[in-house]
Amino acid sequence: MPPRILFVNHAAVIGGAELILLDIAQAFNTSGEVALFSNGPLRERLEEAGVRVHVLKAAPSLHRARRESKIPPLGAVGAALPLIGRLARMARSYDLLYANTQKAFVVASAAGLLARRPVLWHLHDILTPQHFSRNNIRLDVALGNRVARRILAVSQAAALALTEQGGNPDKIFTVHNGIDPQPFKTLSPHDVVRIRSAWVAPGQALLGCFSRLTHWKGQHVVIEAMTRLPEAHLLVAGTDLFGQTAYAEQLQDQVRRLKLGDRVHFLGHRSDVPDLMQAVDIIVHPPVAPEPFGRVVIESMLAGRPLVASREGGTLEVITDEVNGLLFTPGDVAELADKVASLLAHPHRMQTLGQKARSYATSHLSRETMIARVTQHINAVTGKPMASAPPVQNRAEGEPAVLLEGSK
Ligand code: UDP
Ligand code: GLC
Repeated sequence: MPPRILFVNHAAVIGGAELILLDIAQAFNTSGEVALFSNGPLRERLEEAGVRVHVLKAAPSLHRARRESKIPPLGAVGAALPLIGRLARMARSYDLLYANTQKAFVVASAAGLLARRPVLWHLHDILTPQHFSRNNIRLDVALGNRVARRILAVSQAAALALTEQGGNPDKIFTVHNGIDPQPFKTLSPHDVVRIRSAWVAPGQALLGCFSRLTHWKGQHVVIEAMTRLPEAHLLVAGTDLFGQTAYAEQLQDQVRRLKLGDRVHFLGHRSDVPDLMQAVDIIVHPPVAPEPFGRVVIESMLAGRPLVASREGGTLEVITDEVNGLLFTPGDVAELADKVASLLAHPHRMQTLGQKARSYATSHLSRETMIARVTQHINAVTGKPMASAPPVQNRAEGEPAVLLEGSK
């Protein structure tokens, strides 16, 4: 009997962690089900993928609790109690609770203790004070060390941040995200021309930025850089997924103030990112705080487009500067604009970087490899084998835990 898995995710929006969950839960849809703490588009996507979903509605105060809040809101603690009770009752029918977000991990840890079920935590975040309050970090580290059987970090950067905050390195394993390459090689040259014509005339440069709108993703940096790239246009795809409307408004104001309205195009959330990525000349990923992993980084690579990205976080584990992409100092508008301008002036270089990126992502960052590695960890935690999967690479003698699988 394969292990019965209950995947737990607090949000039901379509963010990067949720898209990873979608792929993993789909791979396990015969023995795995998903519990969400709210209703939303993720539920539909999971159900379309043949995954059974349980919506355990949480009181609004739990959703309002922010990762950066300094004091644990009493309302959120109160709201979590009935949820923990419900999840614990459900958990008794499963062999494993698989927590996919930080809030889900906190609730699943308590439920796992009550129901005596193991908890595995898929860590999609970099636990530093830049992203989370100290109290949140302390709680995560304590639960990670005491309750989680294993913690799968999406990058060495995420693993290292957790160990630096006191996380037990013996429990932490790096499993890089992986993406299905299929949707990224579909466009004919004719399609490319058609898509581009909505924004630019032939010969005009088109840049793209594809992330939810929140300050640390740094869209303001690339918008500022547009003042130094007078001929280029920029597509900004994404919305304020978790309700950070102030930043989205700030970006609109910035565009008005810099008189860039005719060259910066806000597209909102798009479901055709693979097509748009293949249609632009250059993709910019400009976070101003370390990116835990960044699916958009792999997606840009799979689209065969040159990526200019901030030099930090998980990006450094897959992009080698000047080889399969270009890196710039986070927040450095002038450096970003220079790198983009120099690439635009050298189309052959753009093509070489894009091809190297595509071949790296195809061979190292596939969805199948990610799922095989996750399977190995699930098997190890539950002691029940799932479908056959390649063996997890063993840690070399004396090598730190964070350099486990997924490392280059
Ligand atoms: N995305 C999307 N539509 C948009 C903007 C982004 O579908 O308009 C997708 C993007 O292609 C990627 C995901 O949202 O797969 C974002 O994941 P990532 O890991 O890059 O960032 P996160 O938002 O999870 O921090
Ligand atoms: C999170 C992180 C992002 C990562 C995604 C999927 O949302 O912010 O860097 O790629 O999860 O793991």
